[in-house]
Amino acid sequence: MSDEFSRRQFAGLAGLSALGLTAPALAAESAANPVAAASFPDGFVWGTATSSYQVEGAVNEDGRGKSIWDTFSHTPGKIEDGSNGDRANEHYHRYKGDVQLIKDLGAKAYRFSIAWPRIFPDGTGAANPKGLDFYNRLVDELLANGITPYATLYHWDLPQALQDRVGGWRSSDTSKAFGDYAGYVAERLTDRVRNIFTVNEVGRFLYFGYGLGIDAPGLTLPDAEVNQARHHVALGHGLAVQAIRARGRPGTRVGFAENITACVPAINTPENIRATEMATREFNSGFLGVVHEGKYTEGFLQYARAAAPRFTAEELKIISQPIDFVGLNIYAPQYYIVATDRAPGWRPLPMPASFPHMNSEWLRIAPEVIYWAPRIAAKIWNIKDIYISENGTSGEDRIHPDGQIYDLDRIMFLRNYLTQLQRAIAEGAPVRGYFLWSLMDNFEWIFGYGKRFGLYRVDFETQARIPKLSAAFYRDVIARNAIGV
Ligand code: NOJ
Repeated sequence: MSDEFSRRQFAGLAGLSALGLTAPALAAESAANPVAAASFPDGFVWGTATSSYQVEGAVNEDGRGKSIWDTFSHTPGKIEDGSNGDRANEHYHRYKGDVQLIKDLGAKAYRFSIAWPRIFPDGTGAANPKGLDFYNRLVDELLANGITPYATLYHWDLPQALQDRVGGWRSSDTSKAFGDYAGYVAERLTDRVRNIFTVNEVGRFLYFGYGLGIDAPGLTLPDAEVNQARHHVALGHGLAVQAIRARGRPGTRVGFAENITACVPAINTPENIRATEMATREFNSGFLGVVHEGKYTEGFLQYARAAAPRFTAEELKIISQPIDFVGLNIYAPQYYIVATDRAPGWRPLPMPASFPHMNSEWLRIAPEVIYWAPRIAAKIWNIKDIYISENGTSGEDRIHPDGQIYDLDRIMFLRNYLTQLQRAIAEGAPVRGYFLWSLMDNFEWIFGYGKRFGLYRVDFETQARIPKLSAAFYRDVIARNAIGV
């Protein structure tokens, strides 16, 4: 291909201005579109997601306390590109513009998180009303633009003061403090925020932060203490549910967002599907399981043996308070499962090194995971309302000479995952909504700003946001409430 030809091609593409298509234009186009479209149910919630430390910046403003991620990201060697969230996307100041980005997608929902150290700079004790004011402003702006807020209370930015005083989640004092914080927020926001996620991805932040030491607070504790800390998170979730019911507006819906350890049948035989259900239940006993069943499975306790968590019957009751929905963060499958003749009746297969992955190496490309995870979770725990609380991918996202970002890899990923999600829903999986991770590139934890997950590319110097081609893709899906297959 000559330079001349490629230049003209780019010019043509830019001329079509796929990125600039408006919703009515898309609707007209789709009416004449010969591609079959698989629809989502009426009222399906389309949204995007972010979290406080990843986008807000303004870490020293309006009385915010320090979080464990401030400490961790400022510890040399912890973040791949040596960056931190001090500035991030400056969302704290640019939130109005960012709400317009959501609106431009046609998305009607936004999942954000509340920074606990903005509300209680010391974790407990005196509240900082200025911290809450930011979320009041954000929520009002969302509602004024017809976007429904979904708030997460804990997306990993624990007040450093709690880590210092009681060892963070190593102590049930943190569970109690979380309950108090949840009640305080519920009292003040649930007149407008009707959906609350308590905690995000226990499966990751606990093991990575307290076991492997690669997330904040960077501890490498023995299994027994890791399991105990996870139990304290589950207890914190339960206490938060109680507090929201007690102090929030009646009818406030509460759940959590979990990166379920996702199991997929290696080959779809009835035996393997059954085996995959059993494996999913065992692998997730430490959080999803205990929240729904009010007990840890025998398998989990036997496997943990002396390292099993200590708990009381009263705690298990608190942990398993009824909830209104479950959020599943779905990216890559953890295990492919086959049935076995011997106990426990299932076995995970080794993962070949050549399994394809996206730009993040951990993100194996397996669209079927978004079909199986909600279907299996709904079945084994009898869940009636599921949200895909996160799904998306990082990409290279290079800016071409014409100024556009042709993130065809992200579009491929989303198209295939959404096709499988539609299939799950058509077959009866109770999935009510989907939050694409992420609205815009942001601080990707230990990878810093090197991994871009956004529909909008962010220049972290100038803070300019540019829609990627995937923004036009997602806008089309939302406008049609369907995925072209
Ligand atoms: C899940 C986490 O909740 C989110 O914070 C993170 O950025 C995405 N996964 C992508 O890794």
